[in-house]
Amino acid sequence: MPAPRPSQSTEATRAAALQAEFNEKKWVWVPDEKDGYLAGWVHQEDDETAEIIMSSGGEIRRVPLYALSKMNPPKFDRVEDIADLTFLNEASVVHNLRLRYGSGAIYTYSGLFLVAINPYQNLPLYTDAIISQYRSKRRDENPPHIFAVAERAWVNMGEERENQSILITGESGAGKTESTKKVIQYLSAIATDAHPRHPSHSHSASMASSFPASPPSGLPRRGSFHAKATHVTSNSTGGAKGRLGLLERQILQANPILEAFGNAQTQRNNNSSRFGKFIRISFSLDGSISGANIDWYLLEKSRVVVRSAAERNFHVFYQLLSSGGSLKDTLLLDRPLDEYEFLNRSRREVDGVNDREDWDALINALDIVGFTVAEQFDLFRIVAAILHIGNIDIRSTKSDDAFMPDPSQAERVCHLLGIPIAEFTRAILRPRVLAGREWVTQARTGQQSLDELASLSKSLYEKSFSALVERINRALDRPSSKSTFIGVLDIAGFEIFEINTYEQLLINYTNEKLQQFFNHHMFVLEQEEYSREGIEWDYVNFKLDLQPTIDLIESSGNAIGILSCLDEECIMPKATDLTFTEKVHSIWSGDLRATEQPHPGRTKYTLPKFEQGFIITHYAGKVEYRTDGWLEKNKDPLNDNLTRVLASSSEPYVASLFQDFAGVFADMPPSSSAGFSAGKRRPIKRGAFRTVGQRHKEQLALLMAQLQATQPHFVRCIVPNVNKKPGRVDVPLVLDQLRCNGVLEGIRIARLGYPNRLPFVEFRQRYEIMTPGVIPRGYMDGRKACIRIVEALDLDTELFRVGTSKIFFKAGVLADLEERRDALLFDVFSRLQAVARKFSARRQMKKVLNRAVAIRTIQRNARVYGELRDWPWWQLYTKVRPLLAATRNDEELRRKDIELQLAKERAERDQRERESLENVKMTLQAEKRKIIDELEAERALALDKDAMLDRSKKREAELEEEIVALHADLDVLDSQLDRALHLQKDADEKHETLRVAFDQAAEHLVRMEGQQNEWRAKEAELSDIVLTQESSMVQLQQEHQALQKANEDLRALVSQRDEDLARVKERSEVLVSDLQAKLGVEIRSK
Ligand SMILES: Nc1ncnc2c1ncn2[C@@H]1O[C@H](COP(=O)(O)OP(=O)(O)OP(=O)(O)O)[C@@H](O)[C@H]1O
Ligand SMILES: [Mg+2]
Repeated sequence: MPAPRPSQSTEATRAAALQAEFNEKKWVWVPDEKDGYLAGWVHQEDDETAEIIMSSGGEIRRVPLYALSKMNPPKFDRVEDIADLTFLNEASVVHNLRLRYGSGAIYTYSGLFLVAINPYQNLPLYTDAIISQYRSKRRDENPPHIFAVAERAWVNMGEERENQSILITGESGAGKTESTKKVIQYLSAIATDAHPRHPSHSHSASMASSFPASPPSGLPRRGSFHAKATHVTSNSTGGAKGRLGLLERQILQANPILEAFGNAQTQRNNNSSRFGKFIRISFSLDGSISGANIDWYLLEKSRVVVRSAAERNFHVFYQLLSSGGSLKDTLLLDRPLDEYEFLNRSRREVDGVNDREDWDALINALDIVGFTVAEQFDLFRIVAAILHIGNIDIRSTKSDDAFMPDPSQAERVCHLLGIPIAEFTRAILRPRVLAGREWVTQARTGQQSLDELASLSKSLYEKSFSALVERINRALDRPSSKSTFIGVLDIAGFEIFEINTYEQLLINYTNEKLQQFFNHHMFVLEQEEYSREGIEWDYVNFKLDLQPTIDLIESSGNAIGILSCLDEECIMPKATDLTFTEKVHSIWSGDLRATEQPHPGRTKYTLPKFEQGFIITHYAGKVEYRTDGWLEKNKDPLNDNLTRVLASSSEPYVASLFQDFAGVFADMPPSSSAGFSAGKRRPIKRGAFRTVGQRHKEQLALLMAQLQATQPHFVRCIVPNVNKKPGRVDVPLVLDQLRCNGVLEGIRIARLGYPNRLPFVEFRQRYEIMTPGVIPRGYMDGRKACIRIVEALDLDTELFRVGTSKIFFKAGVLADLEERRDALLFDVFSRLQAVARKFSARRQMKKVLNRAVAIRTIQRNARVYGELRDWPWWQLYTKVRPLLAATRNDEELRRKDIELQLAKERAERDQRERESLENVKMTLQAEKRKIIDELEAERALALDKDAMLDRSKKREAELEEEIVALHADLDVLDSQLDRALHLQKDADEKHETLRVAFDQAAEHLVRMEGQQNEWRAKEAELSDIVLTQESSMVQLQQEHQALQKANEDLRALVSQRDEDLARVKERSEVLVSDLQAKLGVEIRSK
C-alpha cells in the first residue's frame, strides 16, 4: 500500500518550502561512476564546462556541460508515471524510481510499461482489501500496481471482446514469477464464480492419504522461502480462498507443481524458474474463468546432471528425498541425500527452504489439480530413476571398453522404468549401430557410456516435465469459442554474461523478438496510425528496427541465418563446431560478389578477437557467443537403442514418454530385438525429427502469432541490487536493466506522440453527454460531431488531434475528460435515482391503499357469508355444486398441468443435449485449432526444409560435379595403381632375389666374421712379433748407426790419409821436379 499521505495542508507547506529551496539554485545531476548520478548545483559555468558544488559534502567538481542532466522540480518527486516528468533524462528516471522504492512504492508506470522493482521483503500490497481497491477503477484512480495492469486487461477484454496478454520480463530474480502469481491471484479473485464443480476433477483416493497428511491450504506458495510471506499471503488471500471455485483453485495449484519440477535455487534467486511459460486464462461471457492453458519454453534440463557448486538441482529431488512414508521405499530410495551423485556435488540446502513442507504442499497441489495416485507415482518414478541412473558405476577396461562392475544399481533403474536389464546395459555399453547397411555392435568407452546415461537422465526429465504440463492442461483446459483469454508470459529477460552459450542465444533471440513486438506495437503502429489518420507527426527514425538482427539469427532464405546454418551443419557428415563457425563467418562476414547486395544483418555481425564464436549486436548491446558444443546441443541426440528399449517399457507412462521413438528402427535385425517385439506395435512416427533450434523457432513463432492477436500489456521487473537487500538501489545496475528492457526508449516515444485515441463513434457515444445541444438532431458526420464536441469542451488544441476515423489525445487528457464525465453522470444518476425512488414510494403507497379496500371487501363478504351460512337454500346449493360444469374445468386444468410438466421436462432434456453437443463442438473446434497450429508449424518447418533442400540440391549438384571429376581422377589413379602394382611385383621379385643374396651375404658375413676373428688373433700375434722385431730393429739401427759412424770416421780418416798422401805426393812431385830442374841445370852446367 502506498505510504500514508500526510494531511494536505502539511504536504502543501512542505512542497512550497522544497520548491522555494529548489528555485534558489540551478540544480543538476552529475554522472558518478559509483553512484550513477549525484545531485549538485551549478556554481559557475562557461561555454563548455561548469563548476558544480555537490549537495552531499560540498565537494566542487568541474564537469563538461553535455554530461549534466537537468533536475525536475520537487513537485515531480515520486510521480506515478515517469512519462509525466518535465525533464526526461536517465538520471531523473532513476531518481524517481529510487525515491519511490525508498518509500515502499515498488511499482511505477512508464508510458506503456509498468516497472516493478523487487522489494525483497513482504509488503502488505496484495490483500483482499487492495484487490477491491483496484476493482473497476481506472488506472489513474489508484497508485501504480500489478493489479491495475490485470484490471485493465480484464476491462479491455470485457469491453472489446479481444484477447489480452501481459508480458512480464526481467533478469533472473527480478520478480517475474511473483508478478505472474499476483496477476493470477487478482484474476481469480475478481472472476465471478459461475463455474459448476466438474465431476472429472473429483478424485476419491489421493496420494496424501497414502503419504503423510498434507496441509489443507494451497494457495500460491514459495512460502517456505519466506515463512512470513506465506503468512501474509495466506492471510491476505484466505478470505478469497473460501470463495474460489475448484477450477480457480486448480489454476492456482498448478503453480506449486510447476515450481517443484521447473524451479531451482541459483546464485541469483532461491526459487529461479528454469523454464519460460505462457499461461492463458480463459473467461466465458459471464466473466467466470472457463479454463486455463500453459505453454512452456526452454527447460534448463542440463541442471539435472551438472550445475555450479553453489546451486541446487530442481526442487523436486530434494522434496522427494525429504518425504516420509512408504513412497521412498517403493522407489528404492534408501540412501541419504549425499549419496546420490546428481545431488552431492553441489549445494544441498537453502536458508529458509523447508523441503519437507514443500513436499506436502506439492502433494496437496497434485491432489487438487486431479492427479491420481498412479499418475503421481509415475512422476516420482522418473525422478527416482534419474537419481539411480546418476549412481550407476561405469568403468573402463585396459582397452578402454566400458563395463559395469556392479549391475545392482542398473537393476533398480530397470525395475523403476519397466525395462529388461540386459537390453538396457547392452544399449549403454555395447549398442548396435548402423554402419552402411550393416548393424554392428559398437563397444563404448567408459566416458561415452557415462555421457549416454547423462543424456538419458536429461531427456527423461524433460519428457516427464512435458507430460506433466500436458496433464495439467488436460485438467484445466476447457476450450470454448465464446471465451476470451488473458495470457501471462513469464520468460527470462535479455542478459549478457561473460561466456554466452547456445542457450543464451536462444533466450536473447526470444527477447529480441519480444522487444521487436513491443517496438512494433508502440512505434511502428503509431507511425502507421498517424499517417493513416493524416495527423502531422515528425517522423523520427529511432533506429528501433530489430529485423536485421532477427534475420541474422533465424532467416532461412538466401542469407542463411545462424540457426538454419547450425541445422544444416547438423546433417552434414564430418561437420564440427569449427566448420559451423567458419561457415557462419563466410556467410555473414565473408566477401560479397560484385552484384550482391549486402544483407543488413551483416552490420550486426562481427568476428571475435580470440575465441571461436561470433559477436551479435542486439538491441541491448553486443554479445559475444562461444560456439563450443553447439552441434551437439542442437542435435540433442538420443541413443536409438535406448529410446527403443524405453518405448517398449512395460510401464505405460515410461513407454508413452518415448512413443515417438517406438519403431523408428523397426528395420533393425531381429537378433537385436530379442526381449521385445519390434513388429508388434507398428509405430507411427509422430512429426519429423526437429533440432532444438527448429523446435524453439516454431514455438516462438506460435507464441508471437498468439501475442500479435492480443492487446499487450508490458511489465518490466527490475533487480534493485545484487545482494537481495530491501531498500537499496544500485543505480548503474538499474540503468542497465532499463536500457535492456527498452523502458528508456519507450518513455521517449510515448511523450512525443498522442498515446490515447478513440474512434469517432466511441468518443461521441461517451462524451456527447457532456455537451448537450451541441450536436443537432438527425445525421451528422462523425468527424464534424467530434470537432464540435471538443470545441464545446474547451480543450487546448495542442492536447488533441483529429484524424480521419479517430480522435487522438496527449497522455492525461482522457483522464480529465473521464473525471468531468463521472461528475456529470453522478449528477444525472442522482436525479434518476430520485425519480425512481419517487416511483417506488408511490407504488408502495398504492399497494397500502388497495390493501385497505380489499380488507373492507373481505369484511363485507364475511358478514354476508355469516348471514347465508344458516339459510337452507344456500345449503342446498352447496350440495348441487359438484355436479355443475365448473368442476370439469378443474380437471381439465389438472391434465393441462401434467402436459405442461412433460413438455418442460422434454425441453430441459433437449437443452441438456444441446449443451453437451455444444461442448463436443467446442472440443472439436479446439482440436481443430490445435491441428491448424500444428499444421502451421509443419508448414513453416516444411518451408525451412524446402529452403534447406534447395540449398542441399545445389550443393548436391556441386558435389556431383566434384564426384565426376573425382571419378576421372580415380581412373587415372587406377591406372597408376596398376602400374604401381606391376612395379611392386617386380620389386617383390627383386626383393626375393635380394633377400636370397642377402641371406648368402649374411652367411658369408658370418664366415668372414670367423675369419676376421682368426685374423685378429693372428694380427695380435704378428703385432707382438712386430713389436719384438721393432725393438731388435731399433737395436740394430742403433748398432747400424754406430757402425755408420765408425765407417764415417774411418772414411774421414782414409780421406785425411788420402789428403796427406796427396799432399806428400805433391810435395814429393815438387821435390822431384825441383830435383829434376837442378839436375837439368847441373847437366847443362855440366
Ligand atoms: N512482489 C514481491 N514481493 C515480495 N518479494 C518478492 C516480490 N517479487 C520478488 N520477490 C522476491 O524475489 C524473489 C525472486 O523473484 P522471482 O522468483 O519472481 O524472480 P524471477 O524474475 O522469476 O527470476 P527467475 O528468472 O530466476 O525465475 C522471490 O523469491 C521473492 O523472494
Ligand atoms: Mg521465475
